Amino acid sequence: MRVKKMDTRPIGIFDSGVGGITVFSEIVKELPNENIIYLGDTKQFPYGNKSRETIIELAKKNIEFLIEKDVKAIVIACGTATSQALEIVQKMYNIQIIGIIEPTVLSLKDKNIKRIGVMGTTGTIKSGSWETEIKKFMPNVEVINRACPILAQIAEEGWTKNEIAKLTIEEYVKVFKEKPVDSLILGCTHYPLFTDLIKQELGETTEIINTGKKVARYLRDNLKNRNECSIPTYNFYLTDMESSFLKVASNLLEKEIKIEKAEI
Ligand code: DGL
Repeated sequence: MRVKKMDTRPIGIFDSGVGGITVFSEIVKELPNENIIYLGDTKQFPYGNKSRETIIELAKKNIEFLIEKDVKAIVIACGTATSQALEIVQKMYNIQIIGIIEPTVLSLKDKNIKRIGVMGTTGTIKSGSWETEIKKFMPNVEVINRACPILAQIAEEGWTKNEIAKLTIEEYVKVFKEKPVDSLILGCTHYPLFTDLIKQELGETTEIINTGKKVARYLRDNLKNRNECSIPTYNFYLTDMESSFLKVASNLLEKEIKIEKAEI
């Protein structure tokens, strides 16, 4: 086993509140050795109904706070800030900044999806950013958008399983019952907290997409490519490639592995 060079500076994450925790927890799973600094802009919550100009200003402040903390990369764990500010801040700062939209769409592009749903805050849906990114890679997919103005506020109260949450979800997912979608993107990071309720409404045929998972994988691959994380590399060599080693070992380890021929 060879451990790559390690950049021990933390990863910075921000959201307007508790929603980004759904991204944080996926990053911890994918990158268990990384230090993380999480910034929740609870003073300015909610972001979802603010103007684009305001969101850009808030995103800049959050990024500058994290840069001051000497982070090596920043994850905007917020759909609203990703959709309205990512492009601008990526050009402004000399640090890697990742949003939730691109990693999610890239992970879906090769699937056989005909109709895709997006739930998001009012600002996110108004921006059209999800639809633009989806159409870039999947021009023939039909996109059904649903703005969910009060859902993040309900999550912030911790009401993710009660009657209020149930009725609100029922209302917001109605459109996906009328027009069933293959995949439903939870385009606000607060929404995975309602996954059980959404599943209850839509059943198992709709794949619910938690952006945190996609972002975490994207970040892991990215840091790994840049040699900036401490993921160990396992090298497997076989003296004879004509064997079922790859299949059996991948199953046993529950991960994809690469094998190379050892010329001995
Ligand atoms: N979690 C955020 C998002 O992904 C923000 C919700 C809000 O602040 O309104 O959009």
